[in-house]
Amino acid sequence: MVKLSQRVKALKPSATLAVDAKAKALKEQGIDVINLSAGEPDFDTPEPIKEACIKALKEGFTKYTPSPGILSLRKAICEKIKKDYGLDYCPEEVIVTTGAKQAIFNLLLALIDEGDEVLILSPYWVSYPEMVTCAGGIPKVVPTSFERRFEPELSTLETKISPKTVGIILNSPSNPTGLIYSKDFLLGLAEIVEKYNLWVISDDIYDKLRFDLKRPENILSLQPKLKDRVFLVNGVSKTYAMTGWRIGWALGPKEVISACVKIQSQSTSHATSFAQKGAEAALKTPEEEIKKMAKIFAKRAEVLSKALKEIPGIEFIPPQGAFYLFAKVSAYYGKKTSAGKIINNSVEISEYLLDEARVAVVPGVAFGEDEFIRISFATSEENLILACKKIKEALLRLS
Ligand SMILES: Cc1ncc(COP(=O)(O)O)c(C=O)c1O
Repeated sequence: MVKLSQRVKALKPSATLAVDAKAKALKEQGIDVINLSAGEPDFDTPEPIKEACIKALKEGFTKYTPSPGILSLRKAICEKIKKDYGLDYCPEEVIVTTGAKQAIFNLLLALIDEGDEVLILSPYWVSYPEMVTCAGGIPKVVPTSFERRFEPELSTLETKISPKTVGIILNSPSNPTGLIYSKDFLLGLAEIVEKYNLWVISDDIYDKLRFDLKRPENILSLQPKLKDRVFLVNGVSKTYAMTGWRIGWALGPKEVISACVKIQSQSTSHATSFAQKGAEAALKTPEEEIKKMAKIFAKRAEVLSKALKEIPGIEFIPPQGAFYLFAKVSAYYGKKTSAGKIINNSVEISEYLLDEARVAVVPGVAFGEDEFIRISFATSEENLILACKKIKEALLRLS
């Protein structure tokens, strides 16, 4: 038997996989399941983006590119950041990666030494703690509360800082809550970050999907003097419905970006050549087109919120962006199914909803909060209304 590394043994298997695998198995048996577990827009990639990629392929743009990505795309990313956030970057401060995920992974490998601690705000995107662990670091989860809109008290956050703490990961609008951190919180955090000499990874992947259609904001646009310690991560996956293209990027101080390029040059080499051309075309998408998508998600958020309010015992904060709603369902814990099984946690309630309502959601425990489930509204309004009706019926059958 081959020995597995300690590194991989320390990784937790994804808690979302059990529900996902079961939903897929039911579908294969011809059973109708409404899937509210999706982490990607249900729209297709816009035609002009596909055309640009096809053109690149036909013209033979199929060879290696520079490790940090093609210059024209890095320039386009700098222009986008200037337009969206008013921040100035040059192409040497940009790395194009295989999705935002690899941008974060490269950064963590470049920034973490064995045993270094990284702050992660709960509820968090599933991959952050595992990525930190994989890079040899220790994820330090900062608790938040539903009552405070999942925004941590700065004093609580400060108590989590030790001499080993090197940085913090932020994500706003957030997966899984769909909430946006307040200006006050980010400005307060900026002071802490300076005081303790921390770096920040600002994962802005959902920044254009905010329902007030306002210009995006992050800790750096609010406090530009942090430019030497903030890394901005983004990509085309969510904004342009391009999850499968695997193009993301990171921006930050040259030395760290060069370190990421070194890591990337010894792993994936670079992001796929013709997908980079597609991403370049994506960045030319008129702002109005992006807003159309944000408006559709905003409308769905309203429809979902209205339907969920009809279900007794479910509590939630209406999302401000992305395409997720985090619903508190713990009022149903301790209740019994018709088969006599007691529901105790978010995995069991998600399994129950799949079995009884034929609706797939993601257990909150995957994001660090076991009293919740994550509902994705990357699906039609009809599906959302029908799913809520089925969820309500199933929950009310519990005794
Ligand atoms: C918060 C967050 N960051 C990053 C990613 C990864 O994006 P990409 O598909 O560009 O790797 C996701 C995808 O679900 C996400 O939700």
